[in-house]
Amino acid sequence: MIEIAPSILSSDFARLGQQAEEALAGGATLLHVDVMDGHFVPNITIGPPVIASLRKVTKAPLDCHLMIERPDEFIESFAKAGADWICVHHEACIHLHRTLQLIASHGCKPAVAINPATPVRAIDEVLPLVHHVLVMSVNPGFGGQSFIYSVLKKIETLVKIREARGLEFRIEVDGGVHKGTVADVVGAGAELLVAGSAICDKGDPRENTSQLLASALRVTRQTVQDFSSVK
Ligand code: DX5
Ligand code: ZN
Repeated sequence: MIEIAPSILSSDFARLGQQAEEALAGGATLLHVDVMDGHFVPNITIGPPVIASLRKVTKAPLDCHLMIERPDEFIESFAKAGADWICVHHEACIHLHRTLQLIASHGCKPAVAINPATPVRAIDEVLPLVHHVLVMSVNPGFGGQSFIYSVLKKIETLVKIREARGLEFRIEVDGGVHKGTVADVVGAGAELLVAGSAICDKGDPRENTSQLLASALRVTRQTVQDFSSVK
């Protein structure tokens, strides 16, 4: 199932609740929360208090993308604040298996992210443990960057591995997703589409979300048509 995950990083933080509600009204079904510590990535954003505030205004799953060092030390705080999904970076975890188990032990869905320079094989052993794999399509740290096309092959590889091994993880893509790239992303097999600047930078978040979702769904319909014409 295709889902749009608006990244609140690109929203006006003074109107965060309102912009989140607008994106959800446009068809988004979760909210992507970018947490940055100024160490793992060269930027600082928000932490558990903002997640607790969002939790009060929406029932939509809060998809927390931790771009931080030593995530184990903070997982309990994010879980208590109301995170539903917690995603850690392979590159930030010395004991990734333990970290994913820790997330699950707090009642959250564990996920792993890989940077553009990290191959899929690096997370091979943990694929049975994760709710989703986040394929970064920009180098993490900032919204509004250009999509890195070479990651499409990694999405396709994940689709093949999931099928071959009978696994159930979902595939999320994050960075540079907009109306010009969404067809390639969905065509490659991603289902959870994070979009920040495409939703909040210009125009109305509700309308932008609904257009992006419509573009994404057009691709899946196209795929279904292609298959049916082969049969
Ligand atoms: C980047 C973040 C992304 C980012 C996406 O480090 O993880 O979620 O906000 O923003 P856009 O859609 O503008 O690339
Ligand atoms: Zn993100």
